[in-house]
Order: sequence, then C-alpha cells, then structure tokens
Amino acid sequence: MNILLLGSGGRESAFAWKIAQSPKCSQLFIAPGNAGTSQYGKNVNIKATDFKAIGQFALDNAVDMVLVGPEEPLVKGIHDFFLADEKLKSIPVIGPQQEGAQLEGSKDFSKEFMFRNNIPTAASKTFTCDTLEDGLAYLATQGLPIVLKADGLAAGKGVLICTTLQEAQQELKEMLTEAKFGDASSKVVIEQFLQGIELSVFVMSDGVNYKVLPEAKDYKRIGESDTGLNTGGMGSVSPVPFADAAFMQKVTDRVIIPTVEGLKKENIPYKGFIFIGLMNCEGEPFVIEYNCRMGDPETESVMLRIESDFVDLLTGVAEGNLNEKELVISAKTAATVVIVAGGYPGEYLKNKVITGTENVRDSHVFHAGTSMQGNDVITTGGRVLAISTLQDNIFDALQQATADASRIYYDGMYFRKDIGFDLL
Ligand code: AMP
Ligand code: GLY
Repeated sequence: MNILLLGSGGRESAFAWKIAQSPKCSQLFIAPGNAGTSQYGKNVNIKATDFKAIGQFALDNAVDMVLVGPEEPLVKGIHDFFLADEKLKSIPVIGPQQEGAQLEGSKDFSKEFMFRNNIPTAASKTFTCDTLEDGLAYLATQGLPIVLKADGLAAGKGVLICTTLQEAQQELKEMLTEAKFGDASSKVVIEQFLQGIELSVFVMSDGVNYKVLPEAKDYKRIGESDTGLNTGGMGSVSPVPFADAAFMQKVTDRVIIPTVEGLKKENIPYKGFIFIGLMNCEGEPFVIEYNCRMGDPETESVMLRIESDFVDLLTGVAEGNLNEKELVISAKTAATVVIVAGGYPGEYLKNKVITGTENVRDSHVFHAGTSMQGNDVITTGGRVLAISTLQDNIFDALQQATADASRIYYDGMYFRKDIGFDLL
C-alpha cells in the first residue's frame, strides 16, 4: 500500500524508518519531511496543514492511508476534511477527528472529559475574561505552587507553574485580558500542582479495541538535572523502571480503559493514538494531559522497541480490527538524546552545517529540524537531530546514545548528557 505521513520532526523520522521496513508498504511519502526522511521515502513539499493540497496529492498518487504525525492538522480537522469529501472519504486517516482531537486541543474539554469519566487528574477550574474576578478570588483560596494552563494549543508554552499568589494573579490577568497566548488563552484552566515523576503512556485505538504501546519517560527541561526552560523534549527512555506491572495495571484500569470506554460512551469516534501524560504520585497515576498524537522524542524510542509490523497495526486501526493484530515489544532498552540548536528554546541559531553523522556507531540518527543545502545537511529547527539506540540494558543504551550524540558537530550544538541517568 501507499502511505502518506504528515509532519517533519524526529517523531516522523522514526515513523518513516519503521514504516519503510514493512513489506506491506510499497511507497511512503512524507509531507513535508526533512533532510533525513528522504532515506525512507519520498519527501513531498506540502505543509501538513494544507488540507486541499494533501487531499489532491493523495488522489493523484493512489494513497491508501494517511498517518498524521503532529497535533495541528488533527485539531484543525484533517480527518473530518477527508470524511467530508466523496473522493477522499475511503482513504483512512490515522488520527482522531476534530472532536476527539479536543482531548489535546482544549484543556478545558479534556478536564471535563476526565471528571465525567472518573479518570484521576488534578482538581481544576476554568475561567474566561468574563469570570476573571472569580478566577483571581479562586487563586487566593488555592495552595502553592499552582498551575495555569492556556486552554488551546500554544506550541508547548501554555503551561505556567506559579510559586506566589501575586505571580499567579498577574499571569491569569495577562492570559485572559492581554491574550498572552493569543486565542489559546481566552480560557484558562487553573489546576492543582501535582508532585511526582512523569511518564508518557501511548495507546493505539481503532475506536473499539486498543493496544498499549511501550511507555517512555521524556526529559522536558533544557538543562541537566531538569533545570531551566521547558522544551519540546530533550531525550527519552523506554521502558521506564518505575512503570512496573503493578503501576501499569493501575494505569490500565483507572485511565486507559475509562478513556477508551468514555470516548465510546460519548460517541466520540477515535482512530489513532492517545498519548497520556501521567504523574506518578507515590505510586498512584494522575493524568496531567492527553495528546491526540504520539510524543516527540518518545516515538523515537518507542518505535525501536516495537518488533511487529507497524503498518499491520496501523491497518488494524483503520479497519477496526486492532484486536486481531500482534504487538510484540522488545525487552531491550531504547534511549534517545536530542541535539538542539544553540539558543534553543529561545531564539536559536540556524543554517549551520552538520558534520559527523557518519561517525555514529550504534544509534539511529533521526532528523528533526534539518534541510538540504546543496550537498550539505543544515540546521533549520530548534530540535535538530534525535540520536536513538536500542541496547540490552538501560546503562548501555544511555551511554551509547550519549556517546553517539557527541560524535556529531555543528556550530552551537547542545545536548543533555544526563538523559535517563536519574533512572539508574
Ligand atoms: P503540558 O504542556 O500540559 O505538557 O505541561 C507541561 C509540563 O508542565 C508538564 O510536562 C508537567 O511537567 C508540568 N505540569 C503540567 N500540569 C501539571 C500539574 N498539575 N502539576 C505539576 N506539573 C504539571
Ligand atoms: N514529548 C512531549 C510531547 O510530544 O508533547
């Protein structure tokens, strides 16, 4: 079959790498892709949000399935766009329709969904410009720190953890009355702060049946020992030692099943990935957030651990028979170290020539923010490369990924040398 993958990051590189290995895949297209994805398929110069151009390309190239990498096209309704078109509606799209994508697209929607379905999550209340005074008063009744979340998509920047009441009230005002995060902060969720350790859990659902993919831990802060600004993710590890069978059973019983059943009960069709961001609070799972897509850089580690044919699993999602598909997971450990541009996550350097990828010994070099310039690969994004490896044990995986990351060079390059070492 011909598969069209949408997106251009490290997540999409890992998807492309895995899909290209499947005997079921005859042609893989990646729109728009990056300098690395052309190793696995054909890059197509169309933006993942240009639905009309994507639809036309799918028809012209006999595409049999569309896999959506990032959240933006899903939240904007790419799946609905296909379903509403006579010629496109028979092409399965992997990723939920707009309503299901609200699990990520609206924090208020996702909190209400969790409350309705008794899914453990932090207590919260939502406020708008009209209820600003109530919000300010509510803050004064809450403990510290307190979490403020812009309701809509804010490119990973919409969550603020405030340590004083004054700061929280100031931020709430700016979000609601000065559109600090644009439209995304026209509603703000005020949420109780959860103390614990984070875990990313991934569920693949055909709307009725589900499979739990390997879990992963993501490292969000720019600095070593989890310090400094939040990023899209600086590295990942899978499996996660504290996510043992007993903990994962609680996650399945209290979160995964109620989520899949809740979607069904509420008639929200959902064919795609559910990314559950969890906090492990002294052994009890609480949902921090849902995403309607896979994580990045978790996918880079997760794909390495899936031994089964990934296209077969995707077909199960499309056809509604995921229960008949096999998911075999490697017992080995995958680790990913992300190399970023100098200055990231602030203003960052661009157009730097990348060298040394040929010296990498036992890791995959998944491209993220890269482009070709003549024969050179240059940096174009904040997160530039994801260096991913699969080894017999966690120690070897962390060492290998870190050592291989250091074999690459470009002006201003930076990566964390402590990814995963907190888990040893
Ligand atoms: P999000 O953009 O929803 O992924 O949130 C960004 C980060 O903020 C999360 O990865 C957590 O580290 C942190 N965070 C979000 N909600 C909470 C919470 N209720 N308690 C503690 N930390 C949180
Ligand atoms: N790594 C976190 C995310 O993809 O949102």
